[in-house]
Amino acid sequence: MGVKILWYLTAPDGPVPWEPEGRWDTGFEHLQRLATTIDKLGYYGALLATGSNEVLTLTTATAPSTRRMKFLAAIHPGLLSPVKLAQIALTIDHFSGGRLLINAVNGNDATQQSFGMHFGHDERYDYSLEYWQAFRHAYLGKREAFEGKYLQLAARPNIGGGSYRRTANGNWLEPVQAGGIPLWGAGSSPPGIAHSVRALDTYLSFADTPQRLGDKFRRVGDEARKLGRSLQYGTRLQVIVRETEQEAWDYAQWLVDRTSVDYAIESIRRQLPPGEIFETYRSPDAQVQKNLETIRAGRLPPARDYEIYPNVWTGPALHGFNVLGPLSGTTLVGSAENVAARIREFAAQGTSAFILSGWPLIDEAHRFADLVFPLLDLDHGFDVPRVTRGRYRPRIVVPAAA
Ligand SMILES: Cc1cc2nc3c(=O)[nH]c(=O)nc-3n(C[C@H](O)[C@H](O)[C@H](O)COP(=O)(O)O)c2cc1C
Repeated sequence: MGVKILWYLTAPDGPVPWEPEGRWDTGFEHLQRLATTIDKLGYYGALLATGSNEVLTLTTATAPSTRRMKFLAAIHPGLLSPVKLAQIALTIDHFSGGRLLINAVNGNDATQQSFGMHFGHDERYDYSLEYWQAFRHAYLGKREAFEGKYLQLAARPNIGGGSYRRTANGNWLEPVQAGGIPLWGAGSSPPGIAHSVRALDTYLSFADTPQRLGDKFRRVGDEARKLGRSLQYGTRLQVIVRETEQEAWDYAQWLVDRTSVDYAIESIRRQLPPGEIFETYRSPDAQVQKNLETIRAGRLPPARDYEIYPNVWTGPALHGFNVLGPLSGTTLVGSAENVAARIREFAAQGTSAFILSGWPLIDEAHRFADLVFPLLDLDHGFDVPRVTRGRYRPRIVVPAAA
């Protein structure tokens, strides 16, 4: 199965961006250079995650300096009217040649409430389902009214006067992507899965071991099949790839050496099961328990002690230091050959899209494309160029003569 490789177009950047002294100020020019790099290297696209920069603004600002890449913009339903969002999406699609994708995120209660959305966890998914139906209705140019439980859209009149009145579609742009904007998204709770199998085209999950991730995707797939639907599956991983295994693990250790014990403790506190506290929690996993005791003693265990499966690592990353088990910070660490082999293993378990990042984002985008793209069967819809700076050239392994 061919795979799609996406990169990450989101601030902050820097060599160790989870620590204040390892983080750069990333203004517009830097993000524009990052987008151009992602595009030129032949990535399928990039995830624009929610954060300090508003993602549709970032898309419109950076798309003109790119030609092929898709923009997977993370959007919380409800912050804009679905019709206004459809109008923005249509405009972006017209200007960019149909390159917008949406990552439908349902975030957490506190963030949603700070934006004025006060649905509880489960109801948020009911609202979201209706929101994305209304969005699709408007994107596809349907003019009739939409009557939902939460959203009521009146039939769209011809807007404007004069000759505008004569346009057949009410002065509304034609859809560029015939089936609507592809919706990607996540949700691991039962309401999250029920929503995903109804609303999404591509289901995303943070990475785990290939087998466990495959099991999760198969469970979601079973639910989708009951509705007569089938989904694509994608995951999110950090990556540290080097020419040799040793160099990759040396770099992982370099990152651990620049990470504070406080960062590990904060991440553990966020990941603890309800009712547990850092000081007394016992993990059922012997290695995790050993790591916890070392951290409680004020030290970080060495890099290799967070390897939960060959080349799958739960060491420090921007999205958390998942000492207790794989989550948003999970990282692939290894030589180009081993990282490619692991990606193929995830692919064999049903993962067809990989949203990757390594920091600094521009350097590591080059390194990954130069070292690993030639080893993968890429399904990007265009010929992926061989853009190599000559610094990171995959070694050709010549088989020994018989
Ligand atoms: C690949 C991936 C990317 C995500 N990106 C974002 C994001 O940019 N912003 C956000 O608020 N949540 C993001 N999420 C979190 C999800 O929207 C959702 O909150 C999470 O999966 C928990 O859902 P649950 O409560 O149903 O388990 C992301 C999740 C995944 C798997």
